[in-house]
Amino acid sequence: MPKVYNWQIGREMEYPYAGVRPKRQAAAVFDLNKCIGCQTCTVACKTTWTSGRGQEYMLWNNVEDKPWGSYPLGWDVKILSMLGPQRWRKEGGMWVYLGKTIFEAASPGEVALGYLPEGADYAYPGVGEDEASAPIRTGYLRAPFEPWLFYLPRICNHCTFPACLAACPRRAIYKREDGIVLVDQARCRGYRECVKTCPYKKVFYNPVTRISEKCIFCYPAIEKGYIPRCFRNCIGKIRIFGYISLPENANPENPIDFLVHIKKVAAPLLPQLGLEPNVYYVPPIRVGNMDFIRMMFGPMGVEAVENYRRALEKQDLEVIGALILANSTDRVYARFKVTRDGWAIAYDERGSEVVRVPITEPVTIRPYYDEKLGVYRRNDV
Ligand code: SF4
Ligand code: F3S
Repeated sequence: MPKVYNWQIGREMEYPYAGVRPKRQAAAVFDLNKCIGCQTCTVACKTTWTSGRGQEYMLWNNVEDKPWGSYPLGWDVKILSMLGPQRWRKEGGMWVYLGKTIFEAASPGEVALGYLPEGADYAYPGVGEDEASAPIRTGYLRAPFEPWLFYLPRICNHCTFPACLAACPRRAIYKREDGIVLVDQARCRGYRECVKTCPYKKVFYNPVTRISEKCIFCYPAIEKGYIPRCFRNCIGKIRIFGYISLPENANPENPIDFLVHIKKVAAPLLPQLGLEPNVYYVPPIRVGNMDFIRMMFGPMGVEAVENYRRALEKQDLEVIGALILANSTDRVYARFKVTRDGWAIAYDERGSEVVRVPITEPVTIRPYYDEKLGVYRRNDV
């Protein structure tokens, strides 16, 4: 197999196609500290793209609760158990993955390690919802557990090295010049190798049309300069859409580069699988179990927790400003800056201002007696 360089695992790895990267790579940052698990994103996607026949079970965007939730059932536990040891070592300031990726762990004749979920695995998207990491018994807590949970919104990661694309015998999956991964509906013949090998289980087989479908990153909206539906409807304001550069070309004005490469407060989901996924997560900083964070986001995830905690302690206005801009506009923005007087401002690719947000929300105290209306106001509800 040809070798490609995967910066998320700090080394070269085997991949069926030689490493031609797209002109640019669509990407996202999701701040898990703000996700409230409301599923508005899930419904926005569902009503836009998967309300047809054969799509009933599909959730291109889902939100699962960790540690107990998963959709399809046990997707992460299964692939991580199949993969074997996942050790990392720091070399020259960079994390290097010493285990095998799913491409390297494949059996002879296979493109990548994988499994086909059963139909019933998709039947319980809300499993484990709002269950803490350990049973809480009324009246007392037994050390050493710390009850915690967090919501994990998931879409296709539009991976740099997609397993779905690599596995399709029909070459029906392709990556556009902007990095978005699509299934060519005319070429697909329903072999489902993509469903089997995508470890994130983000390709879905439609039993009515007998071809597969997946998240398209709402490219018709993006092409018009608007963010995807699930981003646009996000009530928790956790999502930033943009384009990511390679670490060596990181641009501090690009919000995705800034959060991922420069401040290192966001990390990819299961980087050890080797796909270079392009949805980056600001991990939850109140989760008590760093082993869990390390398993889900690699050692960069643990560092991201430390970096983000530090940024909040120091009141790093650039980090706070970059995150506060999330979902503050429907438009795609390419650059941002934070002004000395406390504004976070986003600009489009042409340099025009798209939105400005105060970093500290102004507080207005209404007078008890409104002279204009001649009424007394009460501040209780
Ligand atoms: Fe393909 Fe899965 Fe990666 Fe999406 S997340 S690009 S479906 S391998
Ligand atoms: Fe290929 Fe998946 Fe279709 S493997 S043929 S894209 S179902």
